[in-house]
Amino acid sequence: MSLDDEKRLAAEAAAELVESGMTVGLGTGSTVAHLLPAVARRGLTDLRCVATSPATEAQAHSLGIPVEEFNALQRLDIAIDGTDEVTPDGWLIKGGGGAHLREKIVAAAADRFVVIADSTKPVERFTWPVPLELFAFGLASTLARLGEDVTLRPETPPSPDGGLIADYRGPGRDDPAALAARFEADPGIAAQGLFPPTLVSEIIVARGSEVERTTIG
Ligand code: A5P
Repeated sequence: MSLDDEKRLAAEAAAELVESGMTVGLGTGSTVAHLLPAVARRGLTDLRCVATSPATEAQAHSLGIPVEEFNALQRLDIAIDGTDEVTPDGWLIKGGGGAHLREKIVAAAADRFVVIADSTKPVERFTWPVPLELFAFGLASTLARLGEDVTLRPETPPSPDGGLIADYRGPGRDDPAALAARFEADPGIAAQGLFPPTLVSEIIVARGSEVERTTIG
């Protein structure tokens, strides 16, 4: 089994959780790219979906999955998304694709937030940098305040919301709650990529041909 097969297995397991008539948040990334065809194959009716990125929206449209602007819906029955890393207690690092601002808004609006992952994503301790989305206004001052641990991604265009994508490679990832609080106290940061366990309902990890499910909250 390749990693791509694991992503597909986890995504197919999550697609089974979607039922006709549901409001659904669609995540972003290579794992979610397997979710969309699996949802489309189910032939469900009356789905109302929101997408966390233009790429997901385009793929959903190509598969006939209806996607609407995220302003008419107040709540989502379910949101399903990938992750860059997940710790045993359910903290996530997300935003490898720079979509974490919309991903977090969608996760927070969902009654059930399901994370899908291949076997490389569960870790004892975070190793990935923490993605940040920075407001364009006052960017130079924000970067000066955050210091040399934060670097802009030079090749990444601004997000659909106009923010600049950066990564934090400094200390503190062993205490994600404290690090998240530090980021959230900075007015120049629009979104940070640490997602707390309180947002997460369930984690579906594929290891080889086995699918493991962990309920978080
Ligand atoms: C997008 O910004 C990210 O949060 C992705 O959801 C995350 O990086 C997982 O992506 P893959 O499924 O491609 O690993």
